[in-house]
Amino acid sequence: METKSYVIWNNKGGVGKSTISFHIASVYAEMNPDRDVIVIDMCPQANVSMMLMGGGQTGERNLQSLFDDTFPKTVVGYIADSIENVDINPNDYLVSIHEMNEKLPTNLYLLSGDGNLELIAPLLSERADAKPLSSKDRPWVKVHSILKTLTETQIDEKRPCTYFVDTNPSFSIYTQMAILAGKELLVPINADDSSIFAITGLFNLIWGTETLHPFYGKYTFASKVDNFEIERPKIALLLGNRFTQQKGAAHAFKALSTEATRKMYSEYQKHPDRFKQIGSIVKDQNEFETKYSSELRDFNSAGVVAANQGIPLSKMDKYVYTVYNETIQVSKEQREKCKETIEQLVQRL
Ligand SMILES: Nc1ncnc2c1ncn2[C@@H]1O[C@H](COP(=O)(O)OP(=O)(O)OP(=O)(O)O)[C@@H](O)[C@H]1O
Ligand SMILES: [Mg+2]
Repeated sequence: METKSYVIWNNKGGVGKSTISFHIASVYAEMNPDRDVIVIDMCPQANVSMMLMGGGQTGERNLQSLFDDTFPKTVVGYIADSIENVDINPNDYLVSIHEMNEKLPTNLYLLSGDGNLELIAPLLSERADAKPLSSKDRPWVKVHSILKTLTETQIDEKRPCTYFVDTNPSFSIYTQMAILAGKELLVPINADDSSIFAITGLFNLIWGTETLHPFYGKYTFASKVDNFEIERPKIALLLGNRFTQQKGAAHAFKALSTEATRKMYSEYQKHPDRFKQIGSIVKDQNEFETKYSSELRDFNSAGVVAANQGIPLSKMDKYVYTVYNETIQVSKEQREKCKETIEQLVQRL
């Protein structure tokens, strides 16, 4: 059975990668009870891990408990043991989310984030750039494929598997490993100029610039991936994440999101092979927008409660919640609308 895998990345910080990862993974797991759903948290801030493990202080406590095991049940434990060639069983590193947060379904698992990812990054780079020992030895490929190998594995051979990979905005070695782990790339953007600018960066970093840089061109991630013929993820969706703080006038928002789509579409026209193939080739920008973009609404107070208490939108059934001693109201209408947007998005995956 072929696994599915989605990596959520944009080299712009704070666009909603972790929030979106939390909501889509939890709703996806609910809507696909026949599949095992695994979230891999490749961001040292471990935000999505904490949300999944109960949010707020509970999430923090649960994260801490993973370090008490003999080997850390985190991405760092998994990566370190993979490099040491330990005979690895992914299940030894996964957290069953339901056991920590009963509001989430039993088919949802986490390979937790870990702050030490930042500390091992220089060591990973050193390993990747080591001189090969023989003509068959490819240290760069070995290190960069650690997560790709995992996302091609079923954790239970009888059940199909879907992976979601949350990332850090930087293009560090662990982000490169995360990007290669996904068959499909979901790109969250906000409607602001820096988000639009980041689209160019995303293409340059993953696929390389049109002309090779004279000095370091051949050392880039893009050149190595080409040389070693490693498969990259295909862009599946541009996720317009619309928060209140930058909503502004509706028509200003629309102008910026149209510009983001235009930029993506012009990449599509030059390189349709970098995008997931959805039916026949797209003929104009409107069709491109329909097929390759999706707009997420502002989660408002429902989003604050969800992240703070690790509650998926589907399980939010109260009108009032307490967050750090403050009372927060969540209207049913708002909750329902947020849930509906996520469900519609998940149905497209
Ligand atoms: N649709 C939304 N509605 C309301 N708030 C949102 C929405 N999406 C994200 N946020 C808020 O925006 C902030 C940044 O989101 P998040 O941490 O998910 O971004 P990120 O891309 O993962 O950031 P980083 O680059 O630091 O990893 C958070 O406070 C989150 O609650
Ligand atoms: Mg994040």
